[in-house]
Formats: sequence, C-alpha cells, structure tokens
Amino acid sequence: MEAKTPAASRTVITDLVLPSETNPIGNMFGGELLARMDRAASIAARRHSRRIVVTASVNHVAFNKMIPLGSVVTVEAHVSRAFKSSMEVYMDVWIEDRESGLKSKANEAIYTFVAVDEMGSPVPVPPITAETPLEIERYDAALRRKQLSLVLAGKLDPQQASELKALFT
Ligand SMILES: CC(C)(COP(=O)(O)OP(=O)(O)OC[C@H]1O[C@@H](n2cnc3c(N)ncnc32)[C@H](O)[C@@H]1OP(=O)(O)O)[C@@H](O)C(=O)NCCC(=O)NCCS
Repeated sequence: MEAKTPAASRTVITDLVLPSETNPIGNMFGGELLARMDRAASIAARRHSRRIVVTASVNHVAFNKMIPLGSVVTVEAHVSRAFKSSMEVYMDVWIEDRESGLKSKANEAIYTFVAVDEMGSPVPVPPITAETPLEIERYDAALRRKQLSLVLAGKLDPQQASELKALFT
C-alpha cells in the first residue's frame, strides 16, 4: 500500500456550543467535546484507510481551558501514525475570539482507531509519511503511546513494551 501523509487525512469540524451542551456554570460538557472529537477522528481515520473504522481507545484527553456557551469550537484531526490495522489520530481543539476572530488552543486529544472489514475483523491500513517537524514529533511518540495503551488495556506485557521502557532507563 502506498504511504499517505497526515495532511491527507486532515479533518476540520467547526460548530457552536449550544445551551443544551453546557454544564451548570455555562461551559461545554466534556462528553460533548469527546463526541465531537470522536466524529472528527473517525473521519480522519476513514480518509487515511478508506475502510470502516472503529474507536479502539481514547489514549489521552487534556481539558486545559473551559469553553463557554456560544463559543465557536473547531476540532482539527490528523492521523499521526499508522501501524498494521490501527491508526493514532491526534486532535487539536481551538476556540475563536468573537471580536478578533483569533483562534486559541483549548484542548488536545489522542484517539486510536482500527480499520475493520464487514465482519469487524482488523484489516491493514496504508503506512504514513510524516513531513513537518510537528508531524515527525507526533509520529515518533506514537509507538510509545500505543504500547502504553496496550499495557493499560492488559493486552501487552509491560516487559515487552520496549519503547515505553526506554523512557525510564
Ligand atoms: C478494536 C478491535 C477491532 C480490536 O480487535 P482485536 O481483536 O483486539 O484485534 P487485534 O488484537 O488484532 O488488534 C487490532 C489492532 O488494534 C490495536 N489495539 C487493540 N486494542 C488497543 C488499545 N486499547 N489501544 C491501542 N491499540 C489497540 C492492536 O494493537 C492492533 O493494532 P495493529 O494491527 O496496528 O498492530 C475490537 O476490540 C473492537 O471491535 N472493539 C470495539 C470497537 C467499538 O465498537 N468502538 C466503539 C465503542 S462504542
């Protein structure tokens, strides 16, 4: 399979925060943002693999900033690394200042998707070629994150997580 770039899977979803999507102090519910990120990430994974994709894991979410009612929220997703059948999708979340239109980073998240056939069995995906310094940084760290996710899920013996162990030795 021919390699693709992270840019080829770029997916951007922009939407408002409505009253039904907020908590009692008027900020966006975390679950609402998780759902928007899941949608954006699944489209990015589909664009990379051109297959049916399923969420295998939510590896990391940082809710760094509150997102007030009425905000314009943009979720930008890219496949940061492809393995055999799984893909790491990295997301940046931006909010837009109403008056200046300037965007500031509110959150980021990393999800793992797996490409599957009609029976739900994993199928291979194209490799990825990281190009920019940020893409290369995210690509390089992705194997460590995959190993951590598998260890936490009880699917990998910590002794086998060579990349992860290298962080501590
Ligand atoms: C995700 C799923 C397809 C994996 O199936 P599986 O039988 O565990 O298949 P495998 O063990 O061969 O794993 C397939 C790939 O997923 C990766 N994977 C599985 N669990 C993972 C996890 N928790 N974190 C990161 N990667 C994971 C494996 O490392 C493997 O990657 P690779 O092929 O790139 O090396 C299966 O667990 C599934 O269908 N889960 C439900 C998905 C779903 O419904 N999501 C929506 C939730 S509502």
